[in-house]
Amino acid sequence: MFDLKGQTAGYDTENEALVIIDQTLLPAREVILSLTKKEEIFAAIKELKLRGAPCIGVSMAIALSVLSARDHENDKQSFYENFINNCSYLVSSRPTAVNLFWAADVMKKTFSENLSKSIPEIKAALKKRALEILDDDILRCRKIGEYGAELLKGKTSFLTHCNAGRLACIKYGTALAPIYVLKENGADVKVYADETRPLLQGARLTAYELAKAGIDTTVICDNMASYVLSHGLCEAVITGADRIAENGDTANKIGTSGLAVIAKHYNIPFYVAAPFSTVDFGTKTGNGIEIEMRDGDEISEMWYSERMTPKEAKALNPAFDVTDSSLITAFITERGVIAPEKLRDMKDR
Ligand code: MRU
Repeated sequence: MFDLKGQTAGYDTENEALVIIDQTLLPAREVILSLTKKEEIFAAIKELKLRGAPCIGVSMAIALSVLSARDHENDKQSFYENFINNCSYLVSSRPTAVNLFWAADVMKKTFSENLSKSIPEIKAALKKRALEILDDDILRCRKIGEYGAELLKGKTSFLTHCNAGRLACIKYGTALAPIYVLKENGADVKVYADETRPLLQGARLTAYELAKAGIDTTVICDNMASYVLSHGLCEAVITGADRIAENGDTANKIGTSGLAVIAKHYNIPFYVAAPFSTVDFGTKTGNGIEIEMRDGDEISEMWYSERMTPKEAKALNPAFDVTDSSLITAFITERGVIAPEKLRDMKDR
């Protein structure tokens, strides 16, 4: 069995497979899945077996390489068409995280740059690029952790929403990376994790990975955030991002924008940690970000032995919301800490 070596996703190049931890089974069971077919990769993204914007991006790159490596087509035009069809099919799995589209574009560019080469050479180039994207994510998250730890030095109590940790990336995470680095540096850190209804990424995943790392973790229901922030229990809020528009408006897990409003009210800094691949300069403001709508059953049935709400009541289940850039104190990125109004200046750097 391929060894993920503590990473959330990996590329089994010997067997041409995308290897992931099934996040729907955590924290009860750590089950590793080896995915080779486009339908099972699509389902894994849609069903949140693999999730978190950076992890989705890296997995997309690996998936496109795996599917190309497994394609026995000898005609280059047909091989190219299969590749493009795989891109279109997989990006239709979830609409909000830009990393999925970003990774598809990077892989398409790699294909185009190697168009004059033989099919085996193109396959090798795609594999090399996918592995670079994987390694790159680890480095970017480490940098986010280091810049974040510098920014937050002296602070020890944090609140986070959803899971923007190791499980949402390959290693370290984004929002949780500074916390891991602070801990490494000897700080006695404490984290409040919003449970994050309806899919409980905070209660199940953030609590799982922080506890495993020996970090003092307290799970709260989402509606307790105002209590925690108003009682001085935490000094900063840090979340991840699924897509950041050019003006700094940020889409992240549903509930993030409410948290930012509360943080502003109580004068607690609100940071968004994300790699630059999450910034979408093609989207001017948050109004241009498509929000994924998910099945209402996730609210009314999923976690209950019997349906929890009356059948007559509908359920609205937007998976993300957009936080206005005016509520964000700063972005913590692999290029440093950036004020929302300065994001635009980073476009061509
Ligand atoms: O629906 P999910 O679990 O994929 O949503 C994840 C989030 O909203 C994360 O905060 C975001 O992707 C950033 S992960 C570093």
